[in-house]
Amino acid sequence: MNPPVATPGELFESALASHRAGDLESAGRLYRQVLDLHPEQPDALNLLAAIDMECEHYASAADLLRRAIAVSGSVPQYHCNLGNALQGAGGLPAAAAAYRRAIELQPDYVDAHSSLGFTLARMGEASAAVACLDAALAIDPDHFFALNNLGDVLSERGDLDGAADLYRRAIGIAPNVAELHTKLGVVLREQGRLPEAVESLLAAIDTGDAEAIAYWTLGSLLRRSLPAAYDPELERHLLGFFAATGVDHVDVVEFATELVKLKYAEDDGFTARPDPEFVVHTLLRDPLVQALLIHSVVGDAHLEILLTRGRRRLLLDGIDGIGGGQAPVGAISALALQCLNNEYVYSLEEDERARLVALKSAIESHDFREGEPDAELQRTILLFSMYEPLAGLSCAARLAAVPRTAWHEALASVVRRGLHEPLQEAMLAAEIPAAGRLEDPVSRAVKAQYEDNPYPRWMTPAYRPPGNLHGILAGTFPGFAPPDILRGPVRVLVVGCGTGHHPISIAMRYDNAEVVATDISRRSLAYGMRMARELNVGNVRFVENDLLNLAALDGEFHAVECVGVLHHTRSIEIGLRGLLEKLHADGVLKIGLYSASAREPVADARERIEALGLTGEGDDIRRFRQATLEAAEGDPRRRILEYGDFYSMSNCRDLLFHVHEQNVTIAAIRELLRGLGLRFIGFESADPTLAEEYGRLFPEDRGMDDLSRWEIVEEEDPGAFAGLYQFWCTREAAG
Ligand SMILES: C[S@@+](CC[C@H](N)C(=O)[O-])C[C@H]1O[C@@H](n2cnc3c(N)ncnc32)[C@H](O)[C@@H]1O
Repeated sequence: MNPPVATPGELFESALASHRAGDLESAGRLYRQVLDLHPEQPDALNLLAAIDMECEHYASAADLLRRAIAVSGSVPQYHCNLGNALQGAGGLPAAAAAYRRAIELQPDYVDAHSSLGFTLARMGEASAAVACLDAALAIDPDHFFALNNLGDVLSERGDLDGAADLYRRAIGIAPNVAELHTKLGVVLREQGRLPEAVESLLAAIDTGDAEAIAYWTLGSLLRRSLPAAYDPELERHLLGFFAATGVDHVDVVEFATELVKLKYAEDDGFTARPDPEFVVHTLLRDPLVQALLIHSVVGDAHLEILLTRGRRRLLLDGIDGIGGGQAPVGAISALALQCLNNEYVYSLEEDERARLVALKSAIESHDFREGEPDAELQRTILLFSMYEPLAGLSCAARLAAVPRTAWHEALASVVRRGLHEPLQEAMLAAEIPAAGRLEDPVSRAVKAQYEDNPYPRWMTPAYRPPGNLHGILAGTFPGFAPPDILRGPVRVLVVGCGTGHHPISIAMRYDNAEVVATDISRRSLAYGMRMARELNVGNVRFVENDLLNLAALDGEFHAVECVGVLHHTRSIEIGLRGLLEKLHADGVLKIGLYSASAREPVADARERIEALGLTGEGDDIRRFRQATLEAAEGDPRRRILEYGDFYSMSNCRDLLFHVHEQNVTIAAIRELLRGLGLRFIGFESADPTLAEEYGRLFPEDRGMDDLSRWEIVEEEDPGAFAGLYQFWCTREAAG
């Protein structure tokens, strides 16, 4: 007997039941069966369109809704849904017309008012959008979508009080939406209400669903402040920050370091008498200290002295044993990772060297054919890894062949980062294509330095709110009208890209960008290649090239960025001319150069280094650093301790022991640009107080593009450009 045939009504009921149960596939199939029997059944057309929209098939949804309207043109919901489908398909004016028709049919249709407002905002018709969203809220003051979107429109128009009020009302309705807390935090930051902004951003992060922008905004606030007192709640949040992935931890490192110092400010072992026992048994076991050690380079003189003593105690006394229970192996592992991050910059004494020789020989003479490394060997490797990279051992290849699961968990990251990653980079270095030859003697000497010490060793890319280059520059420099070519797609050349932090960060930030990154140091490029692969960034290509020979590269670029490089070449001007040859006629150039006035403490340190006859070798760098760290409070030599680059080996070499460098002044930049027919667009600084100061001195000059005025800002604060002069320029004749 055949099964009974379902009637259209029964099919429709089953479709609805599946739809309600979230089984979209069955629901869709059943609605189609209804439509096979009754092709113009409007409810089936409408509901099938809803499913299509869930699957982002907006064009077919719009077709279905038009058919429903052809049959039942007076149902407001069909018109509103058609508006949604058209909006999804990108047809904004047609979507607006559909919403308007829905409102004509039902004047108090709140969703239609609200969606029309959203659509008009997307069309750039802000005033009309505000009127629609207001109308929606007049019908339903708690309409979440209208509150949220009106907040966005007001925020974009600069009505920050209004926007904050609306976001707060929306939060009242939906307290766990990270996006709302984030937007409120951003608005409060703009208003200068910093503690409240921090609170909102922390609330966003507490939802467990915050996006990178929340962390970045919070980081930008914490970067500007220090905690007033130890606060366990703040500590909890910072731990969450370090545990988050896809987030740049650098911004909160100083803040977190200060919190640690406040936490132990009363402790004798921390302050009066640096005590290795205290370091091993208290400091190194502190979760926030461990997070800092693992994820950053700790740039604090006092902490470095403590950690150096703790490391020495651990090495000389040994540990009870992995698996033995008593030893803080997690703490040793964190310290080993810190030493890896700072490239073993801490000083060490003769007895430590002797012990290391013994450990090294025990590791290198181990017979790896006898099976997996036992606890004693693992202990030895862990101690050794606080002082030297595992990849430098003669048995590195055999160690790398040990299955990763054989390592104690305390060693897993140490082995990955100290052994597998450098070995992988050595392989990648062989793959890097080269463009042109390296002949210039200065370039050769500089290359040798960066092959020994690739700069910088970084762990996370810099996050900045993404966008197209046109929008980013227009937003950063109010006096500059970027050329249309920067709307994308853009080709960007990063010259002297070092270890890839710069090109990878912009490849992730700029929409629709293809980035070519060059450097003379293969080891630096290999680090960048590995990081790009790990981060899944496919739009960067690394090429070995001397910037004095850029003609060997193919094509021209819409933007050329070269930060911290030209001052290490034979001539800044010749280098700049080379960059211009690669720049599109309307393209933009970003340059970073050393400031003579900000680097006065550096010049002073370099003089001392020269007088002492120290070289750029690791031990000389350690010796010089140790003497500086031990200088008495108030000693002018301590000024250099304020530079973050002091705290890791390659950065310290770059800062104080460079084989070739040249500082410039703002006046020299002005002359240089004039001579090359370039127009100064503006300085880009991570420190917002600089722009604030310019604005205070010259409130009428919103463009902030007058180098003579910037000279005055720098005269007031000679250290203002300690993080380089970073500026954008373009050809006078461009545009
Ligand atoms: C201080 S690092 C800056 C790295 C990167 N731009 C950054 O800001 O992180 C200087 C880099 O410039 C590279 N460099 C120096 N002279 C160069 C030249 N003539 N051509 C290409 N790269 C050069 C070095 O190898 C080094 O990686």
